[in-house]
Amino acid sequence: MVTEHSYSLEKLDTPSLVVDLEAMEQNLKRMQAFASQHSLALRPHTKAHKIPALAAIQVSLGAQGICVAKLGEAEVMLAGGIKDILITTPIANPIKLERLTNLYLKYPDARIIQVIDHSDHAITIDHIAAKHGVLVEVLIEAECGQQRCGVEAGPELLSLIELVNKLPAVKYSGIQAYTGHLQHVRDYQERVKLARSSVKPVFDFISNRLTTPELKPEIISGGGSGTYDAYNNIPFTELQAGSYLFMDWDYHSIGSSDGTKFYKDFDCALKVWTTVISRPTPDRAVVDAGMKCLSIDSGMPHVESHEDIKYQTGGDEHGILHFSENSQSLNIGDRIMMIPSHCDTTLNQFDKLYGIRDGMVEKCWVIEGRGRSD
Ligand SMILES: Cc1ncc(COP(=O)(O)O)c(C=O)c1O
Repeated sequence: MVTEHSYSLEKLDTPSLVVDLEAMEQNLKRMQAFASQHSLALRPHTKAHKIPALAAIQVSLGAQGICVAKLGEAEVMLAGGIKDILITTPIANPIKLERLTNLYLKYPDARIIQVIDHSDHAITIDHIAAKHGVLVEVLIEAECGQQRCGVEAGPELLSLIELVNKLPAVKYSGIQAYTGHLQHVRDYQERVKLARSSVKPVFDFISNRLTTPELKPEIISGGGSGTYDAYNNIPFTELQAGSYLFMDWDYHSIGSSDGTKFYKDFDCALKVWTTVISRPTPDRAVVDAGMKCLSIDSGMPHVESHEDIKYQTGGDEHGILHFSENSQSLNIGDRIMMIPSHCDTTLNQFDKLYGIRDGMVEKCWVIEGRGRSD
């Protein structure tokens, strides 16, 4: 749900999650332009924003569909009108299997694809899907070096595809080959080299062994905001990048293709608007945003427009700012923007996202998928 507004940013209370609309719009267009130029279907990973209205904007710009990490997010996106969804994490318990098949029954016009990586998934999904009379489409996740989920590209992958092809209520549609562990490799050349070499065994296996019509993947989905441009001549059909619309300080700190030490491809759009609530000493201030709104799993947030002020977590609800000798002083009541170190985990702590432009609040989205890790 989105509402339109027109009031000054100064009137927005803190801490609030905001997005610079100009930067986000540019980021969205840049990734879509890249995908279109390279004949890749863009399937943005919406775990970064969890907002159906933003997914709808991505689709209106040309995205083929979206990814979600969890079934709960899929429920939110389908209810919000999104019709083509890949669930990128395997599911395993009977409650989830029922929920998945219910989505097929409730949204017969939608394309819903579930990722699996084991025969247990295929057999249990087939059993419940057959009971409800639906055909569940699956992608098989291949191991690409992250050592998270994923079956090795070898005999195990082949026999899983063959099994799926024999099961009446499951349809094999392709392969997911995502390298989450490489998205933030700092040096661009190194990142590209590793991204390519880590998916090579999967693509070699596809071109050597998955050649008959029933084995050939219709979809090969992968790539993230750090590796989206790494796969020239590697035949992915889809790009799953997610963070690019917002970016964050961790992503900002990876290198660009021209050797620059920060990432120029997409701009930091997501921010947390905070207030200085205390000035205990001349070299220290405290803001009203601790780790319950600025996540610290990927390091400390960055203080926007104050390169020499360093943020340190002060616990759940406090953020401590350390000044250097040359820092511009801040007073109690001053407002200040923080750039989160990790967009996904920061966004998941807020109910609303405010869209800002030229110092004005223009939009407010309810983050409908917030907390839907179920
Ligand atoms: C399976 C999968 N695909 C795509 C993405 C999107 O990657 P990024 O947000 O780095 O663009 C993620 C993010 O964690 C993911 O887990």
